[in-house]
Amino acid sequence: MNTAAVAMTHFGHHPDIIPRLVVPQTRNGRLDLLAERALGSYGPVVCEDVMGELKAALLRGRGGAGFPAHIKWHSVAGSAGPGPRVVVANGEEGEPASAKDRWLLTHRPHAVLDGLLLAAAVTGADRAIVYLSHPETVGTIEESIAELRAADLVPAGLRLDVHVVAPTYVAGEESAVCRSLNGGPALPLAKPPRPFESGVSGLPTLVSNVETLAHAAWIARHGAEEYGRHGTVGSPGTTLVTLSGACERPGVYEVPYGLSVQELFTGPGGGYTSPPPSGFLMGGWFGGLLSAERAEVACCYDAVRAVGSGLGCGAITALGAEDTPLAVAADIAAWYAEESAQQCGVCVKGTAAIRDAMGNLRDGIATSATAANLIRWGTTLPRRGACAFLDGAATLARSLATEFPAAVSAGALAPSAESAEPTSSHSHRYSSKETTP
Ligand SMILES: Cc1cc2nc3c(=O)[nH]c(=O)nc-3n(C[C@H](O)[C@H](O)[C@H](O)COP(=O)(O)O)c2cc1C
Ligand code: SF4
Repeated sequence: MNTAAVAMTHFGHHPDIIPRLVVPQTRNGRLDLLAERALGSYGPVVCEDVMGELKAALLRGRGGAGFPAHIKWHSVAGSAGPGPRVVVANGEEGEPASAKDRWLLTHRPHAVLDGLLLAAAVTGADRAIVYLSHPETVGTIEESIAELRAADLVPAGLRLDVHVVAPTYVAGEESAVCRSLNGGPALPLAKPPRPFESGVSGLPTLVSNVETLAHAAWIARHGAEEYGRHGTVGSPGTTLVTLSGACERPGVYEVPYGLSVQELFTGPGGGYTSPPPSGFLMGGWFGGLLSAERAEVACCYDAVRAVGSGLGCGAITALGAEDTPLAVAADIAAWYAEESAQQCGVCVKGTAAIRDAMGNLRDGIATSATAANLIRWGTTLPRRGACAFLDGAATLARSLATEFPAAVSAGALAPSAESAEPTSSHSHRYSSKETTP
């Protein structure tokens, strides 16, 4: 599995929707201030109570956790009484399988800034920051901020900055965001406090994904009812997905919630490039593996959770003919062990143990206890690190065992052959064989 960030090869929207973010005008590149204002950005809001409208719209965060946006906005607005607050647009996008935040920041930076200024106004913030790392997004956001200043659209008293960070997987985690903005390394911190309690400069801080902010602005300008015109009852609206892997048109698409994985790939994704995939990687690399038999699962929060997976940041990869589940899981597990911020013992040992078990499975030398270990790690490791990074590795482990039991059995030695020491091709100081974190 290629661990380099996916390219924004194609983009568009599902034919059944009127797009809100991937509008046809973006074919020519960045929408400038004039074009955005024609779409309603920075215009009047249709509601007196923006947070109430976000609540009515059931807007969920698009950074990965799907947390209700109005609760976060409310926590920041209501925390610690009067005083300064900070809002941050998180455009770091460390997830290698995702390109939607980069797409948004290069094509519709004003949609993000519109949401950021709105969040600042609603929460009472006097500082707003765009946090990003991909070089192509820095120019478009700075150009757009310059347009805003020239048009006198940055409210008096609001400090608006851009903060560029070196890209890593954990640099976009919310406490890492605040730590970096406070002058430290972009590494997660133990919680509490969470950023809404104490974030940038110790102030209540809203860290929100750039796509969430763009949807929030759209909802404020068009209303929750209109937002719910597409999508499902439990997951209203549209969302950006990044489709990659074995499909004809990999790229970023705006789709209504509720389409199946199969419909995403055979519709916007243009169909599969090879024989039907053996499975899918869900939510970037965070939602684990899903077998091909689950291709009919609807991409909405409840249905995907019901099959033990997650939508995460909306990135889905179809496994190609050469991507056997064991090989893909081994590659990603190795990547997890490499990308761990190495701050929490349980994460260091857990990701190493998962990497070694996956490597042994791929090499056909795992022990017969491996399947049980993968499931146990999948249930005992989540929520034990300072951040949710380890949860992703644990989900990968569990999902390989539950979605591909035959492949896992095939990767293990017969019990009679187990007296021979398993020798993972990945040596590690904690584990030359399968260990217990
Ligand atoms: C390891 C890790 C990496 C993350 N990386 C990102 C990221 O690159 N971009 C992002 O928006 N959120 C990322 N998140 C989620 C953020 O912590 C945070 O929940 C999110 O920015 C909040 O925005 P939202 O409420 O709009 O989803 C990451 C979380 C974890 C655990
Ligand atoms: S859980 Fe892992 S990635 Fe997260 S802070 Fe701890 S060591 Fe770093």
